[in-house]
Amino acid sequence: MTDVYDPFSPAFQADPYPAYRRLRDDDPVHRHAEPGYWALSRFEDVWEAVRDASTFSSGDGLTFYQDEIGKLGLAPTMVMLDPPRHTMLRRLISHGFTPRRITALEELLREFVRGRLDLMAAKAAEGETVDLHRDFSSPLPTFALAHLLGVPEAERARFDPWVSALTTLQDDGFDAGSLKEGAAANAVAEMFGYFSDVIAARRKAPTDDMISALTVAEVEGERLTDWDILGFCFVMVAGGNDTTGNLISHAVMLLDAHHDQRERLVADPSLIPGALPEFLRMEGSVQALGRTTTRPVILHGVEIPAGEKVMMLYGAANRDEREFGPTADRLDITRPIPRHLGFATGVHFCIGSHLAKLQARVALEELYARHPHAGVGLDKAKRISSPFTRGWITLPLTL
Ligand code: HEM
Repeated sequence: MTDVYDPFSPAFQADPYPAYRRLRDDDPVHRHAEPGYWALSRFEDVWEAVRDASTFSSGDGLTFYQDEIGKLGLAPTMVMLDPPRHTMLRRLISHGFTPRRITALEELLREFVRGRLDLMAAKAAEGETVDLHRDFSSPLPTFALAHLLGVPEAERARFDPWVSALTTLQDDGFDAGSLKEGAAANAVAEMFGYFSDVIAARRKAPTDDMISALTVAEVEGERLTDWDILGFCFVMVAGGNDTTGNLISHAVMLLDAHHDQRERLVADPSLIPGALPEFLRMEGSVQALGRTTTRPVILHGVEIPAGEKVMMLYGAANRDEREFGPTADRLDITRPIPRHLGFATGVHFCIGSHLAKLQARVALEELYARHPHAGVGLDKAKRISSPFTRGWITLPLTL
């Protein structure tokens, strides 16, 4: 265990919570030397900063790396834009990405999840190890996104590698070489080519899928360009995939460490929706994202100059006793949570939160209905290594 905050160190990544506590208590406006950036860790500070987009801008990227948007080689997507451009784009996209469209997916997702559980049973019967993350949590969001984006069954084998490439890029914070080089670049180029064709086809002959809805969405006479729609496909795939899979895997891990709470949830699955924010608060898929100051800011007597990168440590803020009381570090699936930062807040509040919660609810309902003692083998598990996200590469299932 370490309480030293070093976002790159394996010890910190394995258990960041002691270091988060130290930052909150002793160094709430932390200056990191190399790479140079600031870090906010208290709930109230992060909450207020994220809600003040005119002072804490997303327009220069979300990591602490310089020239992140240039490296991306793409037009900035909505998550890297500030109001008023962001406001317009988000309103337009909301026309295609409606709660009704998401709710309508429930039965399809349930059928997929049941199919995965059958496959896992077959694997186990063959004596193979079943991996909760790879075999269960992670395929579900990929399936949901492919469906929403209108990728037909026959093309799914092409879609999966694009998703992996984008996810890897995101975990590396776009620093593993410029996007213009390497396998990831090819995957992105291929994906953009594919969706450009889909957009062109839908503009000619709209169907009832989400891309068609985006091509016809209109706010105050403005419509989405092909680039806007491609950008949205990109953030959906990069931001909505691993995050969701890891919420499901973390939920099972947390409940395996608290069998009394798992029993309650299995006995009464109507507790699941209320427990999801608690899982995300305890083990957030997004631990930290950055902003850039547009003016000098003084916080707790420390001045952050203009033009500086400031990381919002969502994972630290979500464990702050000042917000969640003395039991902030303990799982409580019935905890009232009036607000949390698992999906951020303010103008960039996760547009996919309903979809993520729907998937996690269906996955947990089906998993525990079939395997009330489902748990994880932490001794053989492997985490992703990232300063920004928290999640798994492998997480064996135990029954
Ligand atoms: C448990 C799963 C998820 C978590 C933890 C999560 C977390 C987040 C967070 C923290 C942000 C704010 C980024 C910032 O602070 O700059 C965000 C934004 C966003 N998320 Fe999610 N997300 C999840 C699932 C999804 C899904 C399923 C989708 C879509 C399919 C999605 C699409 C987006 C988009 C498009 C934005 C940008 C919104 C904007 O800029 O206005 N997310 N998400």
